[in-house]
Amino acid sequence: MKVTFKDVTLSYDGKKDTLKNLNFTIPDGALVSLLGPSGGGKTTTLNLISGLLPATSGHIYFGDEDVTKKDALARKVGMVFQNYSLYPHLTVRDNIAFPLKMQKVSKAERYKRAEELAKLVHVDDQLDKKPAGLSGGQQQRVAIARALAKSPSLLLLDEPLSNLDARLRIEMRQEIRRIQQETGVTTIFVTHDQDEALHISDHIMVLSFGSIQQFSTPAELYERPSNLFVAKFIGEPVINSVPADVLRADLVESVPASVLAQAHTVGIRSEAIVPFDNGQGMVAKIHATLQQSQKYGRESTAYLTYNGQQLLSTELAGLPASQTEGDFFLTKAGFFLFNEQGALIFGGEAHDK
Ligand SMILES: Nc1ncnc2c1ncn2[C@@H]1O[C@H](COP(=O)(O)OP(=O)(O)OP(=O)(O)O)[C@@H](O)[C@H]1O
Ligand SMILES: [Mg+2]
Repeated sequence: MKVTFKDVTLSYDGKKDTLKNLNFTIPDGALVSLLGPSGGGKTTTLNLISGLLPATSGHIYFGDEDVTKKDALARKVGMVFQNYSLYPHLTVRDNIAFPLKMQKVSKAERYKRAEELAKLVHVDDQLDKKPAGLSGGQQQRVAIARALAKSPSLLLLDEPLSNLDARLRIEMRQEIRRIQQETGVTTIFVTHDQDEALHISDHIMVLSFGSIQQFSTPAELYERPSNLFVAKFIGEPVINSVPADVLRADLVESVPASVLAQAHTVGIRSEAIVPFDNGQGMVAKIHATLQQSQKYGRESTAYLTYNGQQLLSTELAGLPASQTEGDFFLTKAGFFLFNEQGALIFGGEAHDK
């Protein structure tokens, strides 16, 4: 189901807008993540989509239908929350079948459906157990199956993996992707974990301060962040950001003067600082001092000092230990300039991978 917001605002207290004028379309059949820091408005946005919360103004459409005034039941969404919220006294089979029981579906039919869904989410060997006898990951699988039982218009998940340990989170996010692809149900997934969002989503909506900072594909968010907030929020390690004045003199040849004049902050991804000009489009050569480098496993990090600023590079592993000072290069990919308001004004052009 396609979901469209037109000029939607939400105020909890009638004074301040918690969500400010949201406009977006979530394509039918997509998996979209709502990503952002705590308090950014993710859950509020999800609750507006589900109908648990009425919009203060604006319109919400499911497909071509205006559902602004319809409640959660009428919108037929399936929901999964952080705390599994399964019924403790019911078996897995009865938990999954519960929404169908509410719809007065016959016992034989709802058990058949519950068993199909249990198979889909890989808990078909747990059907007779109670939730307390399941692991956290299994409980969340059951919660997903239950949300799918009504063949919902949308599957909405609010931080469904945050109670799980790191390894299980990775396994479960892949499972959510698989289940979404097998069912084709349009899925909206809330997380504050960028890694999670980047790995499973078709599109990511970055929400902060009640506004959409950017809504695009994971690759686009990383390669062309539309503002400094997104550049800093997406990517690990965090992008280097330094005042433009620090680099200005080294950029006069590669950046048009009119653009450079507006530059306020430079963003440089750690992989964009390289030891040699490999002929793949360099934006600057900088003279810097190597402070410290570390290598563990496949990861290598090195800190450079350049004009009094510290820059982190992940591309200096091949340097001879004796080299502590010299010229380093900044690649065009992963190099950005932002103006005083934080908007992208240079960088992010399509580039060869
Ligand atoms: N029921 C409520 N009444 C009043 N204010 C609320 C209510 N729920 C949320 N808020 C406020 O709205 C803003 C957005 O909250 P929301 O829960 O949507 O953020 P979130 O992005 O989901 O955060 P988190 O990652 O912590 O779950 C916050 O400032 C929050 O304090
Ligand atoms: Mg939330």
